[in-house]
Amino acid sequence: ATLTLSVIKADVGGYVGHSACHEALLDEARTLLSQAQAKGEILDFYVTACGDDLQLILTHTHGTDHAGIHHLAWDVFKACTEVARRLKLYGAGQDLLADAFSGNVRGMGPGVAEMTIEERPSEPVIIFMADKTSAGAWNLPLYKMFADPFNTAGLVISPSMHAGFRFEVHDVIEHRRIVFDTPEESYDLLVFIGAAGRYMVKAVYTKRGAIAAVSSTQRLALIAGKYVGKDDPVCIVRCQGEFPAVGEVLEPFTLPHIVEGWMRGSHYGPLMPVPVRQATPSRFDGPPRVIALGFQLAEGRLIGPRDLFDDPGFDEARRLCNVLADALRQHGPFEPHRLPMEAMEYTTLPEVMARLAERWQPLED
Ligand code: F6R
Ligand code: MG
Repeated sequence: ATLTLSVIKADVGGYVGHSACHEALLDEARTLLSQAQAKGEILDFYVTACGDDLQLILTHTHGTDHAGIHHLAWDVFKACTEVARRLKLYGAGQDLLADAFSGNVRGMGPGVAEMTIEERPSEPVIIFMADKTSAGAWNLPLYKMFADPFNTAGLVISPSMHAGFRFEVHDVIEHRRIVFDTPEESYDLLVFIGAAGRYMVKAVYTKRGAIAAVSSTQRLALIAGKYVGKDDPVCIVRCQGEFPAVGEVLEPFTLPHIVEGWMRGSHYGPLMPVPVRQATPSRFDGPPRVIALGFQLAEGRLIGPRDLFDDPGFDEARRLCNVLADALRQHGPFEPHRLPMEAMEYTTLPEVMARLAERWQPLED
């Protein structure tokens, strides 16, 4: 059957501060989505949170960018904002940048990753959700999953993957896109996606055109014109068969990969893979977290989840992230812990600098 898997997320209020999502918001979302399911608007749903981000995982038959599905998610976020306001949670409604819904949540604040698939006889998928980082955080792991044979043995060993994959990359500054085939154009691909603050892997396809992975890519700061929290991203990856195995998809997260985000969205820090119960970034509002929920799809039903980073196999990765976090934290307000000046333009730093503008005197030479 043809079906669509949509992951739509927003930060509509944090508990406590920006560290987690209150259970009352998850309950409200579950109640509303059960009603939508009873009415037949969606096939199935799962609600979770990563840090302060409320995550709606939906299956349906309406295709991607469907106004009704996006409207449903928007209404859920609105209702959860009301709950957040009653509890005076922190930053209630922060990611809802528009006053009224206008057809599509893209560009309105929430993050979206959606794919329409022909459900295979067995359809394992992994949904990655991250907090205290930004959309470029998937570039390195997606490259490793789909283009690095040192990560993904199947690229070498499996006839169904040996042809390689196709990467769609978006330039979020110039609003343009480009497609690269790997392994042929891996070096060209890396020229761009190595600059993960600007070029972001939007999707990966097999060479025969099947969707393998899709990410949320918008930059909230660019939408709002100032710092409004990071665009804590999500990513859906299909596994097994002509796609990487579950373990090949998870393997890139064993590396203490440094991403932008963390405190005030203005620092570099390691992306720590954690079980859902540990997706509560507290230390210096971090370090950045990533969770991975695995589902088997069955006629659109979400069988699961399995909390895939809840495995001692990731203990060492978490330890390495803490070692790196200590080293970076000791730099305090100095780069390269703090983001470079250009990346701070969308924070409140320009306001601080503006106050000192008059005090600068020309150098005599
Ligand atoms: C980063 C994040 C937090 C906040 C920080 C200040 O993505 O969410 O680090 O930036 O707690 O929060 P405000 O300015 O909302 O008080
Ligand atoms: Mg967040």
